[in-house]
Amino acid sequence: MAVDGPSGSGKSTVSRRLAAALGAAYLDTGAMYRAITWAVLRSGVDLGDPATIAKVAGEVDLRIGTDPAHPHFSADGEDVDAAIRGPEVTSAVSAVAAVPAVRELLVNRQRDIIAAAGAIVVEGRDIGQVVAPDADLKVYLTASALERARRRSSEHDTDVQATAEALARRDHLDSTRKIDPLQIAPDAVVLDSTELGIDEVVSTMIELLRAKG
Ligand code: C5P
Repeated sequence: MAVDGPSGSGKSTVSRRLAAALGAAYLDTGAMYRAITWAVLRSGVDLGDPATIAKVAGEVDLRIGTDPAHPHFSADGEDVDAAIRGPEVTSAVSAVAAVPAVRELLVNRQRDIIAAAGAIVVEGRDIGQVVAPDADLKVYLTASALERARRRSSEHDTDVQATAEALARRDHLDSTRKIDPLQIAPDAVVLDSTELGIDEVVSTMIELLRAKG
């Protein structure tokens, strides 16, 4: 199952809960781009140097957890779960994710993980369109810009206005990049969670899956 959508739409919370409810695996592809970005920042590479970014991405030993209860990630043996959510990684990730060689590497890895899993819920930006066009169900999860900023600022204890600006910047970069931009797959179900709670979104998705048989 593919869950795509902009930052702060609730994709991670909903996808994890859904995977746990279905007894499925869970793959956070955003965390993969974040972990590569963490390695790029650690190595001090210039974010305007795609060839060296690609080289770092190819060399890092990225371990990817797919248990929805503990989706643990490590890079070169270091636990990166907290660091990849920090402001440095968040503000650099869209630039790293726009490097074609990084996408190719991670999309291949995502397809391998999906092929090896039985049932899996995969969240990201390009899952329904690029990574898993044959997914049983594609959901595009969204919410109003203000609601997304409110959710993010309450998670990270940051100012709503500044968070709204940072989200708008990242959404713009993610949806206007040349390769695999954030788009709504033509066969995706669009779910607007602005006025819905997490449980309602999860149960709607389970109903959608059942309806697909
Ligand atoms: O979902 P999350 O906010 O953690 O994603 C971080 C960033 O990773 C996004 O802003 C985007 O630049 C990139 N990303 C991507 N393709 C995906 C998932 C995330 O380009 N499938």
